[in-house]
Amino acid sequence: MDYTFRLSGKNVVVTGAAGGIGLEITKGLLQNGADVYMVDYNGEALEKSASELKNEYKENNIYTVTSDITKKEDVENLIKVIAETTNSVDVLINNAGVGCNVFSVKETLENWSRVVDINLTSQFFLSQAIAGYFMIPEKKGGKIINMASLGGIMGIPNAVAYSASKGGVMQMTKSLAAEWARFNITVNCVCPGFVETPLIAENLANEKWVGYMNLRNPMHRLAKPEDIVGPTLFLASEYSNYVNGTSVVVDGGYSCSG
Ligand SMILES: NC(=O)c1ccc[n+]([C@@H]2O[C@H](COP(=O)([O-])OP(=O)(O)OC[C@H]3O[C@@H](n4cnc5c(N)ncnc54)[C@H](O)[C@@H]3O)[C@@H](O)[C@H]2O)c1
Repeated sequence: MDYTFRLSGKNVVVTGAAGGIGLEITKGLLQNGADVYMVDYNGEALEKSASELKNEYKENNIYTVTSDITKKEDVENLIKVIAETTNSVDVLINNAGVGCNVFSVKETLENWSRVVDINLTSQFFLSQAIAGYFMIPEKKGGKIINMASLGGIMGIPNAVAYSASKGGVMQMTKSLAAEWARFNITVNCVCPGFVETPLIAENLANEKWVGYMNLRNPMHRLAKPEDIVGPTLFLASEYSNYVNGTSVVVDGGYSCSG
């Protein structure tokens, strides 16, 4: 796929960049000339993915920072590491997340907190840290893109913590958009439908589930990570300068059909 957005010279932070959607978005950013700070808590996978990208995209600066974005000290360290190489972050892509597959009657406080912590709370505190350090001073501005989900719009059986966290991401996005526009920061989210990544490995292994989803979706297929790249790059690019506080739904029409 060819991605042609103008992002040369932009510094972009992508969380969950070691694999799945985050890695594909990173490729799209690099193809458009951006320098990328790849963040993930899986250091081994992160370094492997980054070294492949460094071989392919020799013109770009590609940095890796192993961080668990739910940990305050890791977020503080991430800001410190980025600040060693630049004083501007133009785009933050809050992509890291986890799924869950639990019948709600069996849900535990521990699992609920883990999912909400990674999917929602860490998106907020990383936005606060990056905006507070790089974007708000002197109203430098920037773009924040939060990865939400179809689960933030529709109910998903056996994923109540996940849906709640993603619904929270959508509301957080609107509130920050309303609050930070005066600093020239836009905040938007992307809501993918089901995407073929390790996050839904359990579902993908279930032929019945895949068959039902293919039938149910007007496009009769699940998404691939590359389906999410264009809409995300649009929100990262100057083409979306007046787009603020909204979500781009990328679900092949799943949520609009009965
Ligand atoms: N796959 C789907 O069907 C789907 C659908 C809608 C939304 N999404 C969202 O897209 C985003 C990316 O998901 P994916 O499908 O690529 O999943 P994935 O599991 O392939 O990738 C997620 C990445 O995030 C990293 N990560 C998880 N927790 C982290 C933490 N605390 N700190 C740092 N890194 C962490 C993982 O190591 C992994 O590399 C998530 O926010 C997910 O909720 C996925």
